[in-house]
Parts: sequence; structure tokens; C-alpha cells
Amino acid sequence: MSTRQMTLIAFAGLLATGAAFAHGGATGIVKERMDAMSAIGKNMKAVGQMLKTSPDVDPALVAKAGEAIAGYAGDALTELFPEGSLQKPTEASPAIWTDWTRFAAISDELQAYALDMKALADQGADKQAVAGAFGKVAGTCKTCHEAFRVKK
Ligand code: HEC
Repeated sequence: MSTRQMTLIAFAGLLATGAAFAHGGATGIVKERMDAMSAIGKNMKAVGQMLKTSPDVDPALVAKAGEAIAGYAGDALTELFPEGSLQKPTEASPAIWTDWTRFAAISDELQAYALDMKALADQGADKQAVAGAFGKVAGTCKTCHEAFRVKK
């Protein structure tokens, strides 16, 4: 095994530990949405790692991830944020409910871009096209987290 591979494996282990801590003590709807976000994160990581380590697109992997992410996005995601659900240890910002229209729009965008990524994979698109779609999906994570997630 190369040093680079070993570093990647160690890194993946660290990420898993971090997620377990973040979840600590969460219950109910807060736990449900943290679990959904973690699942979204795992799917993104799978595609990201494929793009980083493989010269070719694995269309089945990308299609599966795109479909899974889309399933967690849109209304499925916003339904996990009932008004005022700020129980510890949530990182959700109260701004979600004062700027609900924008929050919901970004969630819909995540769904649309994830479905675009799946469609590209189904069409046998090349790595550059898939990477472009992946970048758009990732952009919605960043936009939403910057506006609506507070690090605690
Ligand atoms: C529409 C808004 C929105 C989008 C889009 C979004 N997130 Fe999140 N995400 C949140 C919020 C809000 C939280 C904090 C939830 C809480 O702690 O109650 C969060 C939390 C997380 C967490 C931490 C979960 C935990 O266990 O505490 C991860 C990981 C995550 N998001 C990954 C992603 C990834 C990857 C994407 C993009 C593919 C994404 N998110 C897109 C709003 C969003």
C-alpha cells in the first residue's frame, strides 16, 4: 500500500470519528437531519474520491450517489426543519426560519444539481462534465452552510 493510500485511509477514519462526536446526544428530528446530512456527505465523499483517484468515471457509483443525494434534498430536507427546532446539539441557525424561502430554494437547488449529476452519469458523460456537476452540487452545501449552519 502506498503512503498516499494510507494517508487517505487515516483521513477517512478521522472524518468518521468527527461525525460521531458531532452527533453526540442528538435525538428526534435533530438526529434525523444530522443522519440525513451525514448520508449526503458520505455520497459526496464517494464521488469526490472517485474523481480524485480514478482516471475514469464510474457511472454506476455517480448515478447511485446523485439519486441518493436528491432523495435527501428538496422537500425531504426542509421537512426535517420544523420551525424553532433548535434542540442541542444542533448547528442549525435560527435564520432558517426568518429566511425560509432562501433556505428552501437552496435545498431544491441541491436536488436539481444532484439529479443533473445522475443524468450525466446515465448518459456516460466524461470526467470533466461529471466533475463540473459535482462542483455545482458541492456549491450548494457551502452556500447553505455559510448562511444557515452555525459551528458550535
Ligand atoms: C438547504 C441547506 C443545506 C444544504 C443544501 C446542505 N446542508 Fe448540510 N447542513 C445544513 C444544516 C442547517 C446543518 C446543521 C443541522 C443541525 O445540526 O441540526 C447541516 C449539517 C451538515 C453536516 C453535519 C451533520 C452532523 O452529523 O452534525 C454534514 C456532514 C453536512 N451538513 C453535509 C452536507 C453536504 C455534503 C451537502 C451538500 C451535498 C450539504 N450538507 C448540503 C444545511 C444544508
